[in-house]
Amino acid sequence: MTSKDVLVGVIGGSGLYHLDNLTFVEKVNPKTPWGYPSSPITICSLPSGSQIAFLARHGQHHSIAPSAVPSRANIAALKSLGVRVILAFSAVGSLREEIVPGSFAIPTQIIDRTKGIRPASFFEGTKMVAHAAFGDPYSMKLIRWLELRVEKALADEGRGVVLHKDRCIVCMEGPQFSTRAESIMYRTWGGDLINMSALPEAKLAREAELSYALIATATDYDSWRPHSEAVTAAEVFKTLQDNANTSRHVAATVLEDLHAAALDGDILSEEIGSMRFSIMPRS
Ligand code: ADE
Repeated sequence: MTSKDVLVGVIGGSGLYHLDNLTFVEKVNPKTPWGYPSSPITICSLPSGSQIAFLARHGQHHSIAPSAVPSRANIAALKSLGVRVILAFSAVGSLREEIVPGSFAIPTQIIDRTKGIRPASFFEGTKMVAHAAFGDPYSMKLIRWLELRVEKALADEGRGVVLHKDRCIVCMEGPQFSTRAESIMYRTWGGDLINMSALPEAKLAREAELSYALIATATDYDSWRPHSEAVTAAEVFKTLQDNANTSRHVAATVLEDLHAAALDGDILSEEIGSMRFSIMPRS
């Protein structure tokens, strides 16, 4: 690897459609065996000259519903550019009183409540059977590396945004939000956050042996609070802009060091080679 490789990819979620605080280099649109990514990928340069890749998960104009995101193409397209580490952002609902809308969280666990309609493996439709390890669905080395730095970036921004750690995210199918009963049930299951986009992205990043972590930005209290209105899209939109500005600040603050860490290689070491014994031998 050289410092000129694009080692770091950023996937932006609802509200985060560009990183225009970084220097634009070019747009590329790689065709993969799974089709084109959600949007052309923007290559941006950092002050050191290192380059990163940015992809808008729902398209540049938010035209792709969570169930229709071409996650296989997104992960494959980023990997085809040389990306080894992905920092994903996503708007989420909060299932806990202390995770106030506007705050950030880096989850370490996921509960899958998608309905099996999203292609979730690169091996689907092939003659190979593969079982990726997914007990720790995110890259723990990357998460521990990020926590301190994201916390510092949030403190430097000075808006009092808090980072919650070691949280569990529920990924639901949507597009409708949860019922009150479901929202309460997810809390009893240990869910802290909820969104519609955590999966299959994390599964595919693992199959592609990429280090992957999610920075979740809370927009609402979902529908579990007995005396509050249930979540609406209008409520989610209210905090999206502030969260996106903070996400851009966090990205600009951590990406230079993240590129250097990827070059050093330690934050990649859990994932590289992780699929080696995952593919069932053919008899
Ligand atoms: N994304 C943002 N808020 C959400 C919620 N309450 N449920 C599912 N996805 C969300």
